[in-house]
Amino acid sequence: MLRTHTCGELRISDVNKQTTLSGWVQRLRDKGSVLWIDLRDRYGITQLIFEEGKTEAALLASARSLGREYVIQVEGTVVERLSKNDKIATGDIEVKVTKLNILNAAKLPPFTIEDDTDGGDELRMKYRYLDLRRNPVRESLQLRHKMAQQTRAYLDSQNFIEVETPVLIKSTPEGARDFVVPSRIHHGEFYALPQSPQTFKQLLMVSGFDRYYQIVKCFRDEDLRADRQPEFTQIDCEMAFITQEDILNTFEGLIRHLFKNVKGIDIPSVPRMKYDEAMRLYGSDKPDTRFEMKFVEITELTKGKNFPVFESAELVVGISAKGCSEYTRKQIDELTEFVKRPQIGAKGLVYVQYRTDGSIKSSVDKFYSQDDLKVWAERFNAQPGDLILLLAGEKNATRKQLNELRLLMGERLGLRDKNKFSALWVLDFPLLEWNEETKRYHAMHHPFTSPKPEDIHLLDTKPGEVRANAYDMVINGTEVGGGSIRIHDRPTQSMMFTHLGFTEEEAKKQFGFLMEAFEYGAPPHGGIAFGFDRLCSIFGGADSIRDFIAFPKNNAGRDVMIDSPSTISQEQLNELALLIKK
Ligand code: AMO
Repeated sequence: MLRTHTCGELRISDVNKQTTLSGWVQRLRDKGSVLWIDLRDRYGITQLIFEEGKTEAALLASARSLGREYVIQVEGTVVERLSKNDKIATGDIEVKVTKLNILNAAKLPPFTIEDDTDGGDELRMKYRYLDLRRNPVRESLQLRHKMAQQTRAYLDSQNFIEVETPVLIKSTPEGARDFVVPSRIHHGEFYALPQSPQTFKQLLMVSGFDRYYQIVKCFRDEDLRADRQPEFTQIDCEMAFITQEDILNTFEGLIRHLFKNVKGIDIPSVPRMKYDEAMRLYGSDKPDTRFEMKFVEITELTKGKNFPVFESAELVVGISAKGCSEYTRKQIDELTEFVKRPQIGAKGLVYVQYRTDGSIKSSVDKFYSQDDLKVWAERFNAQPGDLILLLAGEKNATRKQLNELRLLMGERLGLRDKNKFSALWVLDFPLLEWNEETKRYHAMHHPFTSPKPEDIHLLDTKPGEVRANAYDMVINGTEVGGGSIRIHDRPTQSMMFTHLGFTEEEAKKQFGFLMEAFEYGAPPHGGIAFGFDRLCSIFGGADSIRDFIAFPKNNAGRDVMIDSPSTISQEQLNELALLIKK
């Protein structure tokens, strides 16, 4: 080996030892009579020292010739430092170098390889292998490794078997577009990359595997956001002979195991909330429950006072922001601008300031008396010092708008602390969702999710009201996982396809294999998949999943390092029988 110790290993107890270290030159400090070099590897930094008069002249000259990121090997003696550095683990010692071997020179890196780098996003992505040398990024990947290890340990302890499923498959309808791969042997035919191993894991249940999991790459051709990548990883799981309750308990167990073993945190048992309640109290199916600020509806209290906006509104709903009653005009205008942004789409914002002196001032004083406003404040359980913010309009749209405002206020009040974790199960999702573009109902989760038996009679008359045996796990306002109890018999599955607008022929062509499998003894089953990258980013306290992926795509879905996607040669196109329109 080219080293006896790592750069994070030597301590005061090693003084006088001979050591050989290998690593990268992080920094050189040349004081004339003394030259220090910080030598870095994955494990830490060790200071090297070269001294005029004490270090051999040729060696000193060679050390002076080094540049940042050179790869070197040194031999020397561990000595106690004169001025210690308590910020690093090796800060009590340094290595008096007696031999230097330059293993490789390095060009000056395009950005500094420090915790706080001067490199912009795009540059760091182009040189991702250099970005990965930086502590924060490396630590994120170490966290990911630990999460994967602990996931396997837990699921293994629960008798789950890890099974690999294929990557060249045909489309699985999870709602996004497929990435497709043209077949060379079968011209005009395509494989699709899995959006998830959904149908395979169900088939494994038919095969009797009983408890399956896989930490698996999934591919979805959809618009990118901070928490979405075109290829991402799931902890994908399925169980047979279980009820929804069993799934919730088993996977609550997984999350608690991860918090305990990766972060050393005991989280309380995960509360449960029905989808309808989440929408009513938070305007979102993934509420951030690190803070309260629940919605309060006052529709009926506002009627009959001739305020046209409230008079015509299906819903008048608001939040009470603690300690914000003394917001200035400018601050309130900012909030109004925020909700009126096209992405949010509210028409306006009504405020009620419950002043610290007990008086109430609102933007609708013309229509409502102090007594009216007092009743509102009571409904909100507001105290002097609080600011009530109200939105009005169509029920669903208004709730969504208020959700955005609630999150903004939570952020402003410092209630979205990255070191605090709040997990939640959201249950009883609707089975179907109306799609304005296609003008038909789509499966909200996927077509294999079972409807609640007591709601099946609504399928023909009120399809939007049918609830599903479907659940999501939400942590800090992010959907980290979702799953359902599946349909496991052919007639129900066929009926579902019909309701989703598939002809019998289409259903057979796409999913005939699954429906046929259901006729060979399919056990009742259900499962869940966690977004592994998202889970890691939440554990790491980050907003974006990117730094938890070694080589991620940028916002335009490109890998700027390897320059992909890219064109292919005419020869390849010919082989695949693909014509590219110029
Ligand atoms: P679903 O589509 O809800 O369910 O996906 C499961 C979880 O995967 C994560 N996720 C993503 N993470 C990063 N980038 C993306 N583009 C992305 N898309 C989804 C989310 C999500 O909760 N087969 C079903 C699971 C099942 O029913 O068992 C499925 O894939 O955290």
